[in-house]
Amino acid sequence: MNKIWIIHNSEHGNSEKISHQLAEGLKDEYEVTVKSIRGLTPEEVAKEEPYGLIVALRVLAFRADNEMRAFLVKLDKLIQKPISKIAYFFTHALKWKKLFAKGMDKTLKKIGCVEEICPEFLEVKMEKAEGPAVEGSDEKINEYVSTLKNFLK
Ligand SMILES: Cc1cc2nc3c(=O)[nH]c(=O)nc-3n(C[C@H](O)[C@H](O)[C@H](O)COP(=O)(O)O)c2cc1C
Repeated sequence: MNKIWIIHNSEHGNSEKISHQLAEGLKDEYEVTVKSIRGLTPEEVAKEEPYGLIVALRVLAFRADNEMRAFLVKLDKLIQKPISKIAYFFTHALKWKKLFAKGMDKTLKKIGCVEEICPEFLEVKMEKAEGPAVEGSDEKINEYVSTLKNFLK
């Protein structure tokens, strides 16, 4: 089974929960590892040579989490074997704005360690910063599992 890593930087648990939901949906076809980047080094991810990487991004002050983006830039610098596929999702508490994704677009342009970027991303709105996700989110997350399965083929 190909290895997929899902990395998050969750504080309130929202992006961690969704990471596990995605992992649950993918685990029949992939060997999935979910990890917080808190206490994880980019070296540890690089060493595993994952086939795919799924990145959870919290929206903080209208931007995709800077710490996660910095982690990806560090990973890019030391990775030997390119990651075949990368996908990402956002959790946020305000109305979704395209601007939230801009920083991540920039980061993805900067990093050369990935071969293919999933053309669709997931965004899940929270009722408030601490969660829970708004009604209908589980269906959206399940649909994204199908999107990921097609993309990861
Ligand atoms: C300091 C801070 C700033 C935030 N800024 C925004 C924001 O600008 N836009 C938004 O939609 N949500 C914002 N949020 C909400 C978070 O994106 C949301 O709670 C997210 O799900 C947190 O992920 P986590 O539960 O995995 O830590 C903010 C939350 C915190 C704590």
